[in-house]
Amino acid sequence: MALYSEKVMDHFRHPRNVGVIEDADGIGEVGNAKCGDIMKMYLKIENDIIVDVKFETFGCGSAIASSSMATELIKGKPVEDAMRLTNRAVAEALDGLPAYKMHCSVLAEEAIRSALEDYQKRSGKVLWECPREASEEERCSCAPETEPAQQE
Ligand code: FES
Repeated sequence: MALYSEKVMDHFRHPRNVGVIEDADGIGEVGNAKCGDIMKMYLKIENDIIVDVKFETFGCGSAIASSSMATELIKGKPVEDAMRLTNRAVAEALDGLPAYKMHCSVLAEEAIRSALEDYQKRSGKVLWECPREASEEERCSCAPETEPAQQE
């Protein structure tokens, strides 16, 4: 059996949504300390819908395929859906990754989460409740910079 699925090879050879969004509403960059690979995600968000997404990945083929598939999975979707995207869902959409390459899909999940955290900070919107008890003085890094808008 081939090591990589046809979908992995397709997204590696023809990655979707590669590039930069100059006026992005959220940018996230993450790296894997062990392999040294870096992934950067750019989100354009309108009315809490991800209208555009682009990525730059300096990494292995699985990381490129994972980034490409992850962008396809969240493009046109509400931010809530993107927040819930797991590395497992990315790997499944690629028809699987070898076990020792699953960490590459984790990078995609983390890059999107990081870009959404950036969007949350910039917009002041509360996309998720901080799991930590952060006081005004000691804000958790995921907390918005500004006062959150009143929730319904
Ligand atoms: Fe580093 Fe794939 S080997 S992300």
